[in-house]
Amino acid sequence: MNLFILGIESSCDDTSAAVVNNNVLLSNVIANQDIHKNYGGVVPEYASRAHQISIVPVIDEALQKANVQKNQLSAIAFTRGPGLLGSLLVGTSFAKAMSLALATTLVEVDHLQAHILSHFIVEQGEEKLLPQFPYLCLIVSGGHTRIILVKSYYSFEVIGNTIDDAAGEAFDKAAKILGLPYPGGQMIDMNAKSGDPLKYSFPEPKIGDLDFSFSGLKTSFLYFVRDNLRKNPDFIQQNLADLSASIQQTIVSVLVKKLKQASLQTGIRQIAISGGVSANSALRNALLNEKDTMNWSLFLPKAVFSTDNAAMVAVAGYYKFLNNEFADQHSTPYTRSNMP
Ligand code: KG4
Ligand code: ZN
Repeated sequence: MNLFILGIESSCDDTSAAVVNNNVLLSNVIANQDIHKNYGGVVPEYASRAHQISIVPVIDEALQKANVQKNQLSAIAFTRGPGLLGSLLVGTSFAKAMSLALATTLVEVDHLQAHILSHFIVEQGEEKLLPQFPYLCLIVSGGHTRIILVKSYYSFEVIGNTIDDAAGEAFDKAAKILGLPYPGGQMIDMNAKSGDPLKYSFPEPKIGDLDFSFSGLKTSFLYFVRDNLRKNPDFIQQNLADLSASIQQTIVSVLVKKLKQASLQTGIRQIAISGGVSANSALRNALLNEKDTMNWSLFLPKAVFSTDNAAMVAVAGYYKFLNNEFADQHSTPYTRSNMP
């Protein structure tokens, strides 16, 4: 079967469209929404308005870059959830309308399933090693921190989860405390490059099994910075690199320890990471350092496929199409993850 699939992603603050030929990526267009920088976080109402403005040009551009006509599409795959309701409504409604107009098949995709399957995106001419099932996928994004046992393209088990904040939120909140703009994960990563990760230490959360907790870490970082600012108003400016490197080191250390524990408990050594925080250079380096000792096959996504993108939605849609998992006009968004 030779399929052309249009993927549409609009779950949060990135409007994205991509076209795949089977699992080979032909185009991937992403429109970021700068407006949220003024507010230090995503404002849901502005996010849905920006999706409304971007969705048509983004889809047009993706089709043009792929050199695929609308009537060549075998299916339209869209993110149904989880995410922000107003944002999801734009992508979902657009996908349904487009499928009705073109009489094309619809495929609904779970955003986390898309992050998990982002490792199966193959670029044109690329020779790529793909994960073998079962593999473990650490999803680290702005909304989720989970260790998933991936049994097949269609079967997932959540074996570790955060009980409060996600790792991305921990990065973003730490960045906000340091006066860095939203989303702060990437800024922390950049500033940390010239800093000493061992300069300051913060207590790592003590939480059982394979679960995570990041809210206590955020609070202790807040109090630490606040107390030092009382003594020295220039404390942040003078120590930005060390503060960034130290908080990053703490978050990364928690993630790596749990992932190692999951690998030892399950005996699985195919290890993947995905979601926005998987772009973090310290996390990648820490995992690369563990790779040989742990005897891992390690799968690190390209940065553009770490953060939200429609390429992963199109590829997940491709595998769902192969499994005859189709949606219809009754499909409505869901805001919370229903992954078991
Ligand atoms: O997957 P994503 O684009 O959106 C969600 O599904 O949430 O993840 C966004 C998150 C934000 O919290 C952002 O700060 C974080 O990913 N992020 C990073 C880096 N790049 C993006 N965190 C740490 N280091 C990075 N380089
Ligand atoms: Zn995401």
